[in-house]
Amino acid sequence: YTMSKLVLILTQVDKPFASDAEQHSVQLLKRAGLTVEALCETDERVAELLPDASFLIIRSNKVPAEMIDRAPKLELIVRAGAGYDNVDLEHATSKNIYVMNTPGQNATAVAELVFSLIHSAVRPINGKSGTELKNKKFGILGFGNIGKQVAMIAKGYGMVVEVYDMFETSDTAMRHGVGFAESTVEVFRDKDYMSLHIPSTKETKGTVDRECLAAMSPGAVLVNTARVDVIDHEALVAHLQADPGFKYLSDVDQKTDILQSLMPNRQILIPPKKMGAQTFEANFNAACAAAQQVIDFMQKGITRFAVNNPVPPELKLYTDLATSLGRFSAAYVPKPREVQYTCYGALNAYHDTFVQYILKGLFEQGGHGKAMTPVEAVSLAEEHSIDIEMRNPDNRKGYGLAITLGFVDDDTRVEVRGTIVGREPEISRVNDFKTRIPLREAIYVLVETADHPGVEYQIAQNIVEAG
Ligand code: 3PG
Repeated sequence: YTMSKLVLILTQVDKPFASDAEQHSVQLLKRAGLTVEALCETDERVAELLPDASFLIIRSNKVPAEMIDRAPKLELIVRAGAGYDNVDLEHATSKNIYVMNTPGQNATAVAELVFSLIHSAVRPINGKSGTELKNKKFGILGFGNIGKQVAMIAKGYGMVVEVYDMFETSDTAMRHGVGFAESTVEVFRDKDYMSLHIPSTKETKGTVDRECLAAMSPGAVLVNTARVDVIDHEALVAHLQADPGFKYLSDVDQKTDILQSLMPNRQILIPPKKMGAQTFEANFNAACAAAQQVIDFMQKGITRFAVNNPVPPELKLYTDLATSLGRFSAAYVPKPREVQYTCYGALNAYHDTFVQYILKGLFEQGGHGKAMTPVEAVSLAEEHSIDIEMRNPDNRKGYGLAITLGFVDDDTRVEVRGTIVGREPEISRVNDFKTRIPLREAIYVLVETADHPGVEYQIAQNIVEAG
């Protein structure tokens, strides 16, 4: 890696990082030799800087596909926070870009907010009598970093806590001294309080449905500091109307008009903006963790907090190799009707990614001439009805980490194998010739010839004479 890559820290108009958090993370990044620009997402310089950015640090600002497309150098997006539903993960992965979150860094802030909301609703400081939390039944859906902190606080209040998480077992719950329900709906069963801590994904959409809501005790309190779409809103509104004692408290649900209209009847408590990570500490911890994760990724290839799985950093050089091999083979067979490829060793697990780069090389060299993204190259291959065949590697051949391509058209065929030596891509075979050709930016002249005395000299002579 060169040491002058650009990190773009993008914040939202209504949600900048606390200034200390920003200053400290910028300092960390600069000390690691990176160039850093911290901008509000609406700043017009964003468009100018995106094409040069290698790393992006964001909060809940949206990173859609078209924004990713405007950042061809991007290697990593770090969401300083827990939920990463604001990033087009599939698109980032298809472009070989890692996405990370900073799990746990704002867990305390969210967990404490749950109890601020609860107190504001059941024990407001307004001179009137409220209710206590002690001995009340408290359910938690989602037992990750935040769910665990919520459980700890609830236990401190003397509440009876039961949790459910589809990725956890009763052993984890036991270790934390809480009960474990059998299913999502069971964790709602007979609860006086229920707090949601699941992410927003395709699978979790509308999780809190009619059945879950009906399972809670009459007059229960539902707290949603997770995401708006984990709730089935039709069911929620029906439940609010059917049980006038039921309360819904959420800092993530501002946009639901129908709920806003129910605000005045005190069943709903919705602050004007998302508040989960709005503490000095959460801001500071998440921003600095994000900066550190960028540095660790850049310096050591650490991807511990990655939430997707493109090619690991130690194999990144092989994407360039794949492109170079694609280009090289296209010089022989510019319009192949079939592209065969074999990825040896650990590369085979990412063959879907490598083939995109092979095709990129093919089209960039073979007639098309323009630079393109790997994903564009795949669509172009489909348009041209190119047959693509992945060959299973025979790793006993001992090629190590290598890629072999076979480009075939009606009357020509080329087989090229390449690998990385040191950090340089190199061709190790062209057709029947085992060879070593370093792949650099240069013009290559390859001549296959029977070895008669004087032939090489003659060829060189011809080239020189041709200028
Ligand atoms: C999170 O997912 O970390 C919280 O929802 C906080 O997000 P924020 O950066 O929008 O405050």
